[in-house]
Amino acid sequence: MTLSRRRLMTLLAASAALPALPRLARAATDPIVIEARPGSAQLLPAPYPATPVWGYDGAAPGAGIRTVQGARLERRLLNALPEPTSIHWHGIRLPNGMDGVAGVTQAPVQPGETFDYAFELPDAGTYWYHAHYSSAAQVGRGLHAPLIVEEPEGLRPDVDDEVVALLGDWRLREDGTQVLDFGAPHDASHGGRFGNVVTTNGEVEATHPVRRGDRLRLRLINAANARIFDLALQGMTGWVVALDGMPLPAPRPLDRLVLAPAQRADVIADVTAGAGEEALLIHMEREPVVQMAFPVSTSGTAATRPAPAPLPPNPVPALGALADARPLRLVMEGGAMGRMDGALMGGRRAGFREMAGASFYWAFNGRADWTAEDAMAPLAELAAGETVRLTIENRSNWPHAMHLHGMHFHEVADGALGDLRDTTLVPGGETVEVAFSAAAPGDWMLHCHMLSHAASGMMAFLRVAA
Ligand code: C2O
Ligand code: CU
Repeated sequence: MTLSRRRLMTLLAASAALPALPRLARAATDPIVIEARPGSAQLLPAPYPATPVWGYDGAAPGAGIRTVQGARLERRLLNALPEPTSIHWHGIRLPNGMDGVAGVTQAPVQPGETFDYAFELPDAGTYWYHAHYSSAAQVGRGLHAPLIVEEPEGLRPDVDDEVVALLGDWRLREDGTQVLDFGAPHDASHGGRFGNVVTTNGEVEATHPVRRGDRLRLRLINAANARIFDLALQGMTGWVVALDGMPLPAPRPLDRLVLAPAQRADVIADVTAGAGEEALLIHMEREPVVQMAFPVSTSGTAATRPAPAPLPPNPVPALGALADARPLRLVMEGGAMGRMDGALMGGRRAGFREMAGASFYWAFNGRADWTAEDAMAPLAELAAGETVRLTIENRSNWPHAMHLHGMHFHEVADGALGDLRDTTLVPGGETVEVAFSAAAPGDWMLHCHMLSHAASGMMAFLRVAA
């Protein structure tokens, strides 16, 4: 079953529209509780049944958090799932003990138990949070939500409306249930786990009404396990103003926007479609998929506006000179058709066939189990404040979305500092260079955000000395 908006429109032409599913909210206590628990989500439109999910407060995606730069975030995770969990605050610069990596920065939160997260938010931007225990399955079942950190009042861009669009990818049956094969060997050894239903904010037919001439801020989040979204706008003129939460020094006209798993983009978009028409956010697959429709309800001004101003920069630590940076190398290999003959596992060399028998298909620098419970070792040890130049060489045939926890890095091209990101897409056979300041002490995960890759060898961490 492959459901695109178009096909559903045809299937459902005769059926009445279903009212939106109410968000399940809990009474606030101090601190506010986020309950990770089973729930249900109307991912497929009626007449398809709702989908049993695991979600924050039972919703998938979770309703999320909206706060302001400089604020302190305090949340108590209550685990009402039948297995351990944790929350990782993706892209947030925070103390290592709050990073939420079960088994590395904290003990897994057992069923019935709680964990209190509390930290300041130094950067404005579009972030998200998700489970970091058995991530492929838990994020895939629905444990993910947007985390929006607004600029302080007075420093926000002048827009008429703001829209969060969290892109999801689900493997569903016609009865609405999820296929729970999160460890499927074929997915893990190829491009990762793709679903058959893509959603925006948990809906196949997400819509947001606008007026002609409106200036929107779109906050795009790719929460999919493996799907790389290739986005375009129709009936809107857009500028990318931030990537992975971090403002670009100059807004960049949006033609196509590639969003790898875990990546985010802030886009300022002016509605140019006329009243009665629809502006569209489109994913350019073989058959384009509408991720969100913006029906233009009344005629607004329609006057063309000047390009938006850049967002105020975030206070990220400055980098030392690249020429003096410490060089690090990460060689990624493995996967289907990857010609890797084996890697270190359990302290000895295992052949590819033996690795596959243990559900490992990938290696970082010749080792597949950097985060194995009994043999955990950092990929590299860094001095606090050190500037690091990391070369990521992808010797496999598959693209990988490489994410570093706790600090953003600059993509480096021709020796020049490029975009600040927390996740970079490294195409098969290519090499990407990034540079960052090892500003905060602790063990910071460095892994592929195609989550079935992370589970099968593409997971390590860097240790920054105190
Ligand atoms: Cu968003 Cu370690 O992940
Ligand atoms: Cu990968």
